[in-house]
Amino acid sequence: MNILGIETSCDETAASVVADGRRVRSNVVASQIALHRAHGGVVPELAARGHVTAIIPVVEAALGEAGIERAGVDVVAVTEGPGLAGALLVGVNVAKALAYSLGRPLVAINHLEAHVYANWLMLPVDGTSPVAEPPPAFPLVCLLVSGGHTELILMTDHGHYRHLGRTLDDAAGEAFDKGARLLGLGYPGGPVIQRVAEAGDPTRFDLPRAWLGESYDFSFSGLKTALLRLAEPYRLPPSLEPAPTVGPFPEHQAAAFAPDAPLADLAASYQAAVVEVLAVKTARAALEFGAKTVLLAGGVAANAALRTCLADEVARRCEPELGPVPVRYPPPALCTDNAAMVAGAAFYALRRGAQAGWETDIHPRLRLTGT
Ligand code: KG4
Ligand code: ZN
Repeated sequence: MNILGIETSCDETAASVVADGRRVRSNVVASQIALHRAHGGVVPELAARGHVTAIIPVVEAALGEAGIERAGVDVVAVTEGPGLAGALLVGVNVAKALAYSLGRPLVAINHLEAHVYANWLMLPVDGTSPVAEPPPAFPLVCLLVSGGHTELILMTDHGHYRHLGRTLDDAAGEAFDKGARLLGLGYPGGPVIQRVAEAGDPTRFDLPRAWLGESYDFSFSGLKTALLRLAEPYRLPPSLEPAPTVGPFPEHQAAAFAPDAPLADLAASYQAAVVEVLAVKTARAALEFGAKTVLLAGGVAANAALRTCLADEVARRCEPELGPVPVRYPPPALCTDNAAMVAGAAFYALRRGAQAGWETDIHPRLRLTGT
């Protein structure tokens, strides 16, 4: 079954064809990063207009890469939320029009569920045969960390989600993005902090970890404030800073630092603080709920330090009681927003009868629920 997935919830216009929920036949992403970089973050109206111009060429490219005609699409799947309203409208309308004109079922997918299901996808190796990995085993614990969300989820079967914890303030990706802005490193923050941190000492600066007792919730706002205080002495006086950027993020104007500022150590210490809390709480949950698999999902799952730290914590805490528990994460291209994950999730949603009607609306504030 060929499912055409469409994703326009934030700043990536994406389309993909996935066969039978797992085999990625094409995965096309038109990134708007360059469009938003000058503003230091995603500007909703620009994002929506970017999707309007990109969506049809992206769908065409996805069909072309998969080597199928429109008639070869069996199901059309689209992200219904959460996300930016104007951005979601573009994808949902195009998906509806395609499904309606082709006479095919439409499936509306929760963006968070799609991120989780990126872990079921298999990418072709050398453009030919896919990696034949078995699907993740239940029960599993999934840490979903993206620019807008930080959620710890227990999944006992397909479509069965139990929320164990979530962020009380900033999302993990947001913490990376704001930290990078405070250090004058640019946007998006995750990849740049990871790169700069490679040359740094993660133990040089002692940044706070918000453990919040035994809870599985997270909090990153105090960490950001602590970074601001640590970086302050190294900032150039305002008269030597570059002209302020114009845009909707004035509280985080690009900062300029003295040449001897320990930016690598600051970035490495900051990254270590974000990653440690995420990894320890996920491993604790895996132990408590007897997880057979631990999954990472979302844009921050691309972070190498998080992957290593989580694997260490799971081995250290879970293995003595549960035996080896595999830690899995999608390849980086399937961690950040893409449409293959939407098409993949739709296959399993359709098996549960989750077909959408033509009156389907967008849901900008959608949460992940399900029993
Ligand atoms: O999942 P995603 O593409 O979009 C949302 O649904 O939000 O996640 C984007 C987020 C951004 O905050 C970005 O800084 C972060 O993922 N990110 C990373 C890395 N790559 C992307 N964070 C840490 N390390 C990375 N390598
Ligand atoms: Zn996302």
